[in-house]
Amino acid sequence: MLMQLKGNTVLITGGASGIGLAIGQRFLAAGSKVILAGRRLDKLSEARSAHPEMEIIQSDVGDANQRIRLIEDVTARFPDLNVLVNNAGIQRRLDLTRPEPFDATRSEISINLEGPIHLSMLALPHLMKKKKAAIVQVTSGLAFTPLAFVPVYSATKAAMRSFTLSLRHQLRGSPVEVIEIIPPAVQTDLGGPGHHDFGAPLQEFADDVMRRLDQGETEIAYGFAMQASKASRQDLDAIFQRMNSPAGS
Ligand SMILES: NC(=O)c1ccc[n+]([C@@H]2O[C@H](COP(=O)([O-])OP(=O)(O)OC[C@H]3O[C@@H](n4cnc5c(N)ncnc54)[C@H](OP(=O)(O)O)[C@@H]3O)[C@@H](O)[C@H]2O)c1
Repeated sequence: MLMQLKGNTVLITGGASGIGLAIGQRFLAAGSKVILAGRRLDKLSEARSAHPEMEIIQSDVGDANQRIRLIEDVTARFPDLNVLVNNAGIQRRLDLTRPEPFDATRSEISINLEGPIHLSMLALPHLMKKKKAAIVQVTSGLAFTPLAFVPVYSATKAAMRSFTLSLRHQLRGSPVEVIEIIPPAVQTDLGGPGHHDFGAPLQEFADDVMRRLDQGETEIAYGFAMQASKASRQDLDAIFQRMNSPAGS
């Protein structure tokens, strides 16, 4: 089944910046309705000023009640909703030898893992009624081999990839396509400004993702993430050593 870029109603979590916004801009340009969700109202308003046709909703995907309200609200106001992009995420450096309050750890797990799993489940009954629908999960090359100084982040992405494979399998033959976008390091503010300046240019990455979505690819890995997604166990061990050596960190 081909995912058309036009004529959709697309909800993008974490849509006010970075990869989410870049994808939203392209869906809009292709002729889809775009709804951006995120926590910071100033960032959402900035996105809306640049693209007045976009809808914005303040919502924290790390909070179960807000997730329930988000899907209730969006499906009531935009009954044509047929694409959910689970993009919101945070990345924290964490030295496991220095324990932190578990609330901080749990919040990363809630945003990166509970959020997209719960939102997928909440949206599914609505999406199943559409002729064509999609759930798009934004995972990471780190789902295949962790970067040890972002241990919880890497674990949440590996778990999201696993969930995505199961979801796709369970939804085979249904109107809901399950698509995984697997970015490498991309130049965004993930982890805080300056932490991803070495990554792939955001606009080039987003152009490639949309081109491949349009071609019907369901697993869209890019650059290093493509290499990691196709690597043998032996190659993955070598990548892990390289990435986590003092020079690679
Ligand atoms: N950039 C990379 O190198 C890279 C690589 C692999 C995967 N990814 C993945 O790509 C996705 C997008 O990240 P990005 O690189 O575009 O970074 P980004 O610019 O920091 O975007 C993340 C977005 O998520 C939103 N967000 C964070 N916590 C949220 C919450 N609790 N509820 C709702 N929205 C929340 C943020 O806005 P608010 O803070 O205002 O909520 C922000 O707009 C993430 O899932 C990330 O893990 C990125």
